[in-house]
Amino acid sequence: MSLWKQAIEDAVQKTRANIERYGVLFPHVSKDGKYLLNANSEWTDGFWSGMLWLCYEYTQDDIFKQAAERTVASFRNRMDENKALDHHDIGFLYSLSSKAQWILEQDEAAKQLTLEAADKLMARYRPKGRYIQAWGREGDEKNGGRIIIDCMLNLPLLYWAYEQTGNTAYRDVAIIHADKSRRFLVRGDDSSYHTFYFDPENGESLRGGTHQGYGDGSTWTRGQAWGIYGFALSYYYTKNPQYLETSLRLARYFLERLPEDDVVYWDFDAPVNAETKRDSSASAITSAGLLELLSHLPADHPERAFLEDGLQRSMTSLVNNYATIGQPEAEGLLEHGSYSVRAGNAPDDYMIWGDYYYLEALMRLEKGVTGYWYERA
Ligand code: GLY
Repeated sequence: MSLWKQAIEDAVQKTRANIERYGVLFPHVSKDGKYLLNANSEWTDGFWSGMLWLCYEYTQDDIFKQAAERTVASFRNRMDENKALDHHDIGFLYSLSSKAQWILEQDEAAKQLTLEAADKLMARYRPKGRYIQAWGREGDEKNGGRIIIDCMLNLPLLYWAYEQTGNTAYRDVAIIHADKSRRFLVRGDDSSYHTFYFDPENGESLRGGTHQGYGDGSTWTRGQAWGIYGFALSYYYTKNPQYLETSLRLARYFLERLPEDDVVYWDFDAPVNAETKRDSSASAITSAGLLELLSHLPADHPERAFLEDGLQRSMTSLVNNYATIGQPEAEGLLEHGSYSVRAGNAPDDYMIWGDYYYLEALMRLEKGVTGYWYERA
């Protein structure tokens, strides 16, 4: 059995056990080895849904399908109650839950729910500043003019809505935001800002900064990972070669800085000593993103071997050194993720998005299953 298949079998077994453990609740990050659960109010709740759909695709076992459909019903409810949707992560939430159901089952109600989600995300577009506001209400003093690189993974929801409806406004907003992110969040040396501020009245660029990174001018490894995958996805939808090139530049920067065990620390600029925290989730996102990027490069691309080597090294280390294989009672799949080291919030724990992207990358390596960022041919 391949290493990837062994890892998938272990992940499927743990996800199966977690269905009963979690019931109607959703895992977020862990504390003392147990996932903290919530009643569908976090930005992360789509990842559990996505894991269930991936396990269903792999096993065809109805237990996963039923559990996944229950999560979509919960997302319907969240939309109806307008609960905790006042941020841009609507793309993460509804791409991996209702959009996944539409992709797998062509369920009309799931499609309609996903279109409602796209409209909610559109409502965060600020025409004067020409960006999608990440956090807070319109006019918010601190966050009103702020974008973050993570949003690149929310844009596929808008591209998808354009494809489903023919309404070009969805695509136009996604492209405006992707272009702005490319211009201001990606630096000349191929590193990235986590966040950037604009004047909300006229869109004038103000300054780069961070929220979860080591410093305003540092490179938070998970932000770089969101950029690698997100720009590759914007390329998939638009075929604008600048997005592919941006994904490649960010990937090169990331892979040239892999540490001795090939899984990154939480920030490329954090001083490294025996106490420095890792972020296994950043390496998992990057692995899934590299698979997307590689799928768009010609077979003879000069950097293909370098990217493939980085992917193999990252995934092999995640499976051998970070996965909970051999710990049947463990809830999470990947140890040593970090949510916010600087805030002391889950600095060395399971992250549900780390588990999701690890499983997505494994499924892609083993079976070619791409996840739910876009419709499958
Ligand atoms: N998108 C939030 C995070 O990566 O922590």
